[in-house]
Amino acid sequence: MEINLLCNPHHRNSQGFVLPLFLLDRRIRAMKGAIFYTGRFGSTHQYASWISGASGLPVFDLNKTRPNPSQYDFLVLGSSIIITRPTIKRWLKANWKKIQRKPVLLFTVSGTEPGHPHLKQWLEENLPKEILEHVDYYAFRGRLNLGEVPWWIRLMLKFAAKREEDPQVKQRMTEGFGFMDKNAVKPIVDWVKALQDENLKQTKLQEHEHH
Ligand SMILES: Cc1cc2nc3c(=O)[nH]c(=O)nc-3n(C[C@H](O)[C@H](O)[C@H](O)COP(=O)(O)O)c2cc1C
Repeated sequence: MEINLLCNPHHRNSQGFVLPLFLLDRRIRAMKGAIFYTGRFGSTHQYASWISGASGLPVFDLNKTRPNPSQYDFLVLGSSIIITRPTIKRWLKANWKKIQRKPVLLFTVSGTEPGHPHLKQWLEENLPKEILEHVDYYAFRGRLNLGEVPWWIRLMLKFAAKREEDPQVKQRMTEGFGFMDKNAVKPIVDWVKALQDENLKQTKLQEHEHH
C-alpha cells in the first residue's frame, strides 16, 4: 500500500523556511479514495451519494465517465444486480490489475435481501475467486418503481414473474418495491474512516521513527 507521506524532516514551505513539526503534522494527508458505481434506475446512485455525503469521497458513474482507478489509494465500488448479474462485472474484470493491491469494498444493490444465498451465488458465478477473496463485500436492498422503467422491461418482468416460484420474488417483479435505507450505509462510512485513521497512524509512526 502506498503511503501518502507529504511531509518529511526536510520539508520546506514555498519561502524556503523549515516548518516546525506541529505544522508539518497538518500536512499529512489522509488516503485518497473514491466511489465508482454502475446502476441504471437511481438506487445505486443514491447509495453512492449517501456514502459520499457521509465520508466526503467523490462519486463517479462508470456509465458516464471513465475515472482512472490508479489515481486513488482505495475504492468503494457500487453495483446494481440485474438478471442475477452484478452490472459492474465488466469494468471490475477489466480494471482488476490496476486495483488489486488497493483496499476495495464492493457493495451491491438488489431486490434480494442481504444475506440471501442467491447473492453469494450470483457473485461467485460472475466474478473470479481472486477478486471475491480480495474485496470487502456489502449488500443493500434497492428500489424498483415499475412506472419508471421502460415498457419492455416491465413486459420482461411480467413474463419472468409467471415462471417465478418464490412468491416474494414474484410479488417484487409484479408490484415493484422500495427498500432504500440511508442508515444502512454506516458500516461503509466506518470502513472508510477506519482505513483513513489507520493510515494516518502509520504515517505518524513512520514520521516519529525518522526522528
Ligand atoms: C430488469 C431487472 C432485473 C432485475 N434482476 C434482479 C435480480 O436478478 N436479482 C435481484 O435481486 N434484483 C434484481 N432486480 C432489482 C434491482 O437490483 C433493483 O431494482 C436495484 O435497486 C436497481 O438498481 P438501480 O436503481 O441502480 O438501477 C432487477 C431489476 C430490473 C429492473
